[in-house]
Amino acid sequence: MSPLHPHSPDSHDIATLWWWMLLAAGIVFLGAVALLLIGWFRRGEPGLPFFGESERANLGLVITFGMGIPIVVLVALFIVSDLYVLGKTDAPTSNSTGLTVTVVGHQWWWEARYPAGGAVTANEIHIPARTPVNLLARTADVIHSFWVPELNRKIDMIPGQTNRIELYAEEAGTYRGQCAEFCGLQHAHMAFRVIAEPRPEFERWLSASERPARAPDGAEASEGRRVFMENACAGCHTIAGTPAQGTVGPDLTHLASRQTLAALTVPNDRRELGRWIRNPQEIKPGAKMPGLELSNAQFHAIVTYLAGLR
Ligand code: CUA
Repeated sequence: MSPLHPHSPDSHDIATLWWWMLLAAGIVFLGAVALLLIGWFRRGEPGLPFFGESERANLGLVITFGMGIPIVVLVALFIVSDLYVLGKTDAPTSNSTGLTVTVVGHQWWWEARYPAGGAVTANEIHIPARTPVNLLARTADVIHSFWVPELNRKIDMIPGQTNRIELYAEEAGTYRGQCAEFCGLQHAHMAFRVIAEPRPEFERWLSASERPARAPDGAEASEGRRVFMENACAGCHTIAGTPAQGTVGPDLTHLASRQTLAALTVPNDRRELGRWIRNPQEIKPGAKMPGLELSNAQFHAIVTYLAGLR
């Protein structure tokens, strides 16, 4: 996860800007060190090096090093960064081509909606490779910042506002993202993945994700479904095709097809899923999900049901 490993034209521009800024800052730094050294070696000698000994020499020094060079360097960096690269990495004004994904920041996870077909997922954003994706960034609570350094710059998620960015991956791959604006206790555990796939693979994923949840397979899974629907779970989570239509927590319709739980905090396997349902606060203190008072058999039943939601 580094802005210096760009995988899109926008992030190539950002990486180039970074190297130019490093170069400019390096030259200024070395210049300042050189002046210090000259001062050190000339200590005790009257006058200034290059400028001589007069009132005008003092003024020349102030104008050259105190004003001239800083103004030139800062104006040049402003033009390149704010006017050129910021403008270039702005989302294009027309979004008629490609695909739109709405990502909503929550304390502390990411909701991803594909409005065209109604697919909803969390923390793992699938996109087709080599296709510009129009990404709409919103928040359900406080300010978050959506950042996939290998694909583009950050975009803040501001309450009451929708911001846009273009996501584009030059090749298929998994690109890690991270919330880049402090948003509370679990800000550090607000990570996500952008999974860029070849177009046919993405289309398969999308159409599978648009389907409602599969029916429970076996008696234990059916019991798990019943426990889920009769407890607080159904008030906070949606499982498409069931009475569970809560919107506080992540959509669980295809939970088992995701690789991680709790925004990349733990892997999504039976063991971690069980630990998470039993005591979310142990894995992610401050998370909005409470632990439930359930019997061992009920826990196992819920885990079996959710682990079957592919
Ligand atoms: Cu969300 Cu930091």
